[in-house]
Amino acid sequence: RGIQTTKLVSPIKDQNLTVLERSKQLAAWTAVDQHVKPEHRVIGIGSGSTVPYVVERIVQLGAEANEERVFIPTGFQSKQLIVESGLNLGDVDQFPTIDVTLDGADEVDRELNCIKGGGACHLREKVLAEAANTFILVADYRKNVEHLGTTFKQGVPIEVVPFAYAKVLQNLHHILGSPEASLRMAVKKAGPVVSDNGNFIIDAPFDQEKMKDPFTIMAQIKMLTGVVEVGVFCHMAKAAYFGNQDGSVTIK
Ligand code: 5RP
Repeated sequence: RGIQTTKLVSPIKDQNLTVLERSKQLAAWTAVDQHVKPEHRVIGIGSGSTVPYVVERIVQLGAEANEERVFIPTGFQSKQLIVESGLNLGDVDQFPTIDVTLDGADEVDRELNCIKGGGACHLREKVLAEAANTFILVADYRKNVEHLGTTFKQGVPIEVVPFAYAKVLQNLHHILGSPEASLRMAVKKAGPVVSDNGNFIIDAPFDQEKMKDPFTIMAQIKMLTGVVEVGVFCHMAKAAYFGNQDGSVTIK
């Protein structure tokens, strides 16, 4: 697939934000402006530090339209965000078809494959990406890469049922060739990170060559017994927006 990279220069000038935060805001605002249509009624809201700018823009633009809309979260954080922003909260079991889902990413390659799950939400994020007629990624300039695994070195996030984590780790080490795969621990190693679904997260780094074929990596990991979901999303996004340091936005 031929991806065109277009650069827009955004009119947003908020001097109170750092360059990094501003780049997230630029990406999010531009994506909302281009993909949230007045007729959209069901909107998926992803997780991470870029997504609050998506909600910020939706609130700014659509007080009236938002009364008719329902917003579906990918986890606890986005649920709080939706409620605190005064938007209508819904669930994917009530609305299994979503008009547009906007979400962050840890890395996006030139084919719009991405790594997600830095915040341990990738299972619900993948459900909302799949449920959406249009799935859009928003990210800062650090996430825009040629091949996955270039800047995001912590590896592929994998959600596993707690009972199976040691066996999955062993299989990742010995069968799939990720000797550094490890259980994600909470701050100060207080215990394993537990997802919104009550599961553990493993981070599995793979070498650059393997990461050039993200679909195969994803499929091989998903076959391991005990794996619930893999934070590699292949060919799901329609477009990705990256805010740049110079105030422009790259669209792939
Ligand atoms: C959470 C995610 C996030 O979308 C991803 O980690 C990007 O986060 P940020 O916008 O903070 O860079 O996948 O599971």
